[in-house]
Amino acid sequence: VLLGYRAVRARRIQQHMRFMLSAVALSALFLVSFVLRYVRYGPSEFHGTGPVRWFYMAILVSHEALAPITIPLVIGAMLLGLMRRFSVHRELARLTLPIWLYVSVTGLIVFFLLYVSPGRP
Ligand code: HEM
Repeated sequence: VLLGYRAVRARRIQQHMRFMLSAVALSALFLVSFVLRYVRYGPSEFHGTGPVRWFYMAILVSHEALAPITIPLVIGAMLLGLMRRFSVHRELARLTLPIWLYVSVTGLIVFFLLYVSPGRP
């Protein structure tokens, strides 16, 4: 996503398109694997206590609130780009991009806190 953004700022449109379509494909792949895992094993429990738990909950709630909104935004921005409706694409994509990045980064933070952070049981 960041590479795609850098490309469009440098007016490299073909490269922008390729990076963004790759990001959409990777996100779709992730979403499928996430849903399959969720159906199979259910939600993960966070075992931390104290301030780290509050931090985890705040990140998780904001991540979960925005993640479903990201899907139609990304699909809409992608379709508008592919349909060459560039001025509307640009308007929607400028809203989509920061939300998509926020959801991606907070998703990584949640993963790190659940499975990688030291001190977990
Ligand atoms: C989900 C996928 C995509 C995202 C998130 C995205 C994101 C963006 C963003 C944020 C901008 C505005 C950049 C700025 O502020 O100057 C932009 C512009 C642009 N995008 Fe995309 N893009 C995506 C897919 C595509 C596709 C598939 C195309 C097809 C060629 C495309 C073509 C363009 C063009 C031509 C512009 C420049 C529009 C203008 O300045 O009038 N984008 N895109």
